[in-house]
Amino acid sequence: MMGILDLERLTSLSNEQCEIILGVAQNLQIIADLSQADIFIDCLLEEDNASFVVAEAKPTTIASLYKKSMLGKIAYEDMEPGVLFSLKTGKPIFGSRGITEERGIMQQDIVPINDQYGETIAVLIKERDISQEVQNERNIERLMKATNSEDEQRVFQAIVVQEIHHRVKNNLQVISSLLRLQMQRTHSEEVAEVFHDSISRISSMALVHDYLAQRGIEEADIKLLIQQITTLLVSSSIIPGQHITVSVEGNSVFCPSDQATAIALIVNELVQNSIKHAFPFPSQNCGKIDINLRRRKQMITITVTDDGCGAGDSFSLGDLSSLGLHLVEMLVEERLQGVLSFPLSDKGTKVSITFPIVSTEVNEY
Ligand SMILES: Nc1ncnc2c1ncn2[C@@H]1O[C@H](COP(=O)(O)OP(=O)(O)OP(=O)(O)O)[C@@H](O)[C@H]1O
Ligand SMILES: [Mg+2]
Repeated sequence: MMGILDLERLTSLSNEQCEIILGVAQNLQIIADLSQADIFIDCLLEEDNASFVVAEAKPTTIASLYKKSMLGKIAYEDMEPGVLFSLKTGKPIFGSRGITEERGIMQQDIVPINDQYGETIAVLIKERDISQEVQNERNIERLMKATNSEDEQRVFQAIVVQEIHHRVKNNLQVISSLLRLQMQRTHSEEVAEVFHDSISRISSMALVHDYLAQRGIEEADIKLLIQQITTLLVSSSIIPGQHITVSVEGNSVFCPSDQATAIALIVNELVQNSIKHAFPFPSQNCGKIDINLRRRKQMITITVTDDGCGAGDSFSLGDLSSLGLHLVEMLVEERLQGVLSFPLSDKGTKVSITFPIVSTEVNEY
């Protein structure tokens, strides 16, 4: 089941290097049996830019992928680019799928074998028959496509939706870690603040996808999301010694994920503004932010009120230098098809958005 070539005669490797490969080769059979796979050791055939099989072991615990022996078989770069890449760079490659010469589907994993100086002298290759697994995957796919049971379809859809939200969340987390790294490198407070605001915008969007990924549904409870966003904002923005409380009132309202993402961003901006501008520290170290969520038939109104110093004249959308309120206006009008207003308030600032809900539920009317 197991064979090895005369390394010293066929390669330009040193005695010690040959010993190392022989050491691995001695265990080849047990590796093949345990992993139920064909195992090979390949060395570089430098003059030809090719690799060749110096040792092999066929599994005794399962049928081998190959009828013939592969010992001494030469593979040029276009046939086994992965093996050559690994031999030359010393990097492992996992999980490649391919068709064997004998028409089986296999998964190939390659790990380098290094000498005591870290130089790659050979690679260990595992080739496992996955024809059955691939067949099963295809069967599941076909089953899912062919199923006419609505319940099964729904379960399948939920899994897909969950997976998509999971990936979106992960991507957003990668972006915010990148920004955080960049933020740590700046010495300018102003630049750091810009990064901080971007990170908080991304985190608020990620919360929506996290929520949806956990539940595997397409609609999110925006009251719960607003609570999570404000908790996150308060804990990441408040200066020690400052006391700002946030309350979220109203009923739970379920929104589709794209609406929920827009709402998350809007609430992020408005609450961020109250924290940043309404309570100038240290002259005002206490403050209250109230968020109210109201639904009348298909219309939703979200109001953010603070009891701070008020926005005065700077509160106009004509000022192009600021991004926050423009972002809010754009999201309300374009993504939510709603309106933004600044109702008069005795003290502090009040901002209100009203939009029609796009939801599948009908019962809460
Ligand atoms: N709750 C508030 N209390 C007091 N002033 C506010 C409040 N919200 C907004 N403002 C004023 O309105 C201005 C515009 O807000 P906007 O969110 O557009 O920009 P910004 O917060 O300055 O910057 P960013 O682009 O980071 O949001 C602010 O600079 C601030 O002077
Ligand atoms: Mg702002």
